[in-house]
Amino acid sequence: MAKHELLCKIGPSVLNSDLSKLYSESERLLKCGADYLHLDVMDGHFVPNITFGHPVVKCLRPKLPGIFLETHMMVSNPEQWIEPSADAGVDQYTFHVEATSDVARVCRKVRESGMKVGIALKPGTDVTAVSGYVDLADMVLVMTVEPGFGGQKFMADMMGKVRWLRRHHPGLDIEVDGGVGLATIDACAEAGANMIVSGTAVIGAEDPSKVIATMRRVVEGHITRGDGDR
Ligand code: DX5
Ligand code: ZN
Repeated sequence: MAKHELLCKIGPSVLNSDLSKLYSESERLLKCGADYLHLDVMDGHFVPNITFGHPVVKCLRPKLPGIFLETHMMVSNPEQWIEPSADAGVDQYTFHVEATSDVARVCRKVRESGMKVGIALKPGTDVTAVSGYVDLADMVLVMTVEPGFGGQKFMADMMGKVRWLRRHHPGLDIEVDGGVGLATIDACAEAGANMIVSGTAVIGAEDPSKVIATMRRVVEGHITRGDGDR
């Protein structure tokens, strides 16, 4: 697939928003220009934190018709939550390659359930752990912090993985997540990421729409120039 067919998509993470107002915060972010929502599901086992799960997404779903919902499954047994997530109306199920011994099976089951497939990599995991499964996935998520908490520092040394994936898979959706904001978006875009998760940099901004628009401009500029195809 040609590089110019890639689309820039900005998906704010609601993790660090006021979770008592999950719906209105989601609406606010969408009004500010978000293309999709990145929902961080944590089980307290795969990561040392707990957030929410498919019952919450199921409540949110009918209030946000047509909005693309990605769940970032930071859970130990990703296969367990495929069916309930599909039932809840999740559009993309992004699970961690480290959390299963049968990545291909989880990919297949997610796809069979009608959701898109995302495969995520922790910072310590080599990109070769996913290279054999790219054909079974719609997107690869390169984590740029240790999963578990928002507001951490961006790990620039993860950009080598993004660059490698972009070079070998010009049409693949590549997402970055963790510490991404105005100061780090250029590195992500230059390396070849086209799906951008941003939590605190958007939620905490005085003008979230400006942050989203700026990040979009940077990513679209790199896509047009064909950066990452190097
Ligand atoms: C971390 C989550 C991220 C996080 C992003 O475990 O997967 O989605 O909430 O937040 P920031 O942008 O603040 O790092
Ligand atoms: Zn996430």
